[in-house]
Amino acid sequence: MLTGELVRLRALEPSDAEALWRWNSDPDVMRWMDEGYPASQAQVAARCEERERNSYDNMLLAIETLGEGRLIGVTRLGDTEPETGRAELDIYIGEKDCWGKGYGTEATRLICRYGFDRMRLHSIALWVVAENAAAIRVYEKVGFVRDGRHRHSFRRDGRWYDQILMSMLEGELLG
Ligand SMILES: CC(C)(COP(=O)(O)OP(=O)(O)OC[C@H]1O[C@@H](n2cnc3c(N)ncnc32)[C@H](O)[C@@H]1OP(=O)(O)O)[C@@H](O)C(=O)NCCC(=O)NCCS
Repeated sequence: MLTGELVRLRALEPSDAEALWRWNSDPDVMRWMDEGYPASQAQVAARCEERERNSYDNMLLAIETLGEGRLIGVTRLGDTEPETGRAELDIYIGEKDCWGKGYGTEATRLICRYGFDRMRLHSIALWVVAENAAAIRVYEKVGFVRDGRHRHSFRRDGRWYDQILMSMLEGELLG
């Protein structure tokens, strides 16, 4: 378990499936995320039940508040390459009343610290839609920098959006 001052990160439990399905069905939460094709609650529950244990190349963790132990989101380091020590980061806080309280920043910092210290990663990268100002702010606060821009790589409601590639190298994590 990875514990900070506001949140802890832990492995996913089958009982987390209802919240995951609810968040994935919420257009506000999914506004700037690739939601994939619609999945039923039973399909999400089966995915949680059958999930393999976390590993070097795929680590998905639940984000829980420290005080109440409330499940509020998930974060993942995935597509990890042993040859380059590079992984990709995803994060979302699905409980909207928890936005803007510092939870996303601390969870990002905790999983990146784990990636650099325990997994001995060399770099962590991510893609973010250029309009997702809150997420970009979180990433810059913990030390990610902008590497480049992939124009028209995200489509939503009949419109194209650019995505920004951000990365952080070992030794660059802030805070
Ligand atoms: C992006 C997300 C993870 C941020 O989590 P969070 O817990 O709300 O983040 P924090 O409270 O730690 O920090 C948010 C920061 O963004 C700032 N912010 C919020 N809305 C903003 C906006 N519209 N423009 C600019 N900055 C904004 C906040 O002021 C805060 O910065 P500060 O500490 O300097 O004041 C969360 O909003 C979320 O899950 N959104 C939906 C899914 C998503 O977009 N995930 C990222 C995909 S790449």
